[in-house]
Amino acid sequence: MNKPVISIIAAISEKKRALGFKNNLLWKIEGDLPRFKALTSGHVIIMGRNTYISIGRPLPNRTNIVISHIGDEGIASAENLIVVDSIEKALEEAKKIEKEEIFIIGGGMIYKSFIDIADRLYLTVVYDEPEADVFFPDYSQFKKEIQKEDHLESNPPFSYVIFER
Ligand SMILES: NC(=O)c1ccc[n+]([C@@H]2O[C@H](COP(=O)([O-])OP(=O)(O)OC[C@H]3O[C@@H](n4cnc5c(N)ncnc54)[C@H](OP(=O)(O)O)[C@@H]3O)[C@@H](O)[C@H]2O)c1
Repeated sequence: MNKPVISIIAAISEKKRALGFKNNLLWKIEGDLPRFKALTSGHVIIMGRNTYISIGRPLPNRTNIVISHIGDEGIASAENLIVVDSIEKALEEAKKIEKEEIFIIGGGMIYKSFIDIADRLYLTVVYDEPEADVFFPDYSQFKKEIQKEDHLESNPPFSYVIFER
């Protein structure tokens, strides 16, 4: 049986790879959320506890896997939510359910843990450098740009870029 593709999806600044500030996102990019929803719906999404808290609820139509050393303490249970205490368990649970594409949706700590094993990156590269306290890891190991769609007329300007190794 084919292994599911492991994909990372993130919105980052072009130069510093900024991701977030004070446990919030840095931008509200028009079109980015619908795109995120279209790509991830029906699939398994994996995230760190901080990102889960920042979102505030399990995202519908997806199996949400949350990683935390302290397990599900303080996280209300939900039918589409699984809390695990390690990266390995997150992947194990994800692979039981997902046969096509597993999405790693953040944040900084979790991206860092998955960057070396991910197959694909869906990046929203934003040409703006706001103050940030969480950053995306170096991704120069991803050599193949599969797709690029510029939105340079937007404020801030950005590009959707898909990379593979
Ligand atoms: N721009 C984007 O696309 C994007 C996407 C997502 C998030 N963000 C932003 O990123 C920021 C959050 O990122 P973050 O780095 O602070 O947090 P995070 O990666 O979302 O979560 C970190 C937490 O996950 C748990 N964790 C991480 N590695 C673990 C491991 N190996 N084993 C067990 N548990 C582990 C720990 O939870 P415990 O402390 O409970 O053990 C850790 O504190 C926010 O600002 C958010 O808005 C941006």
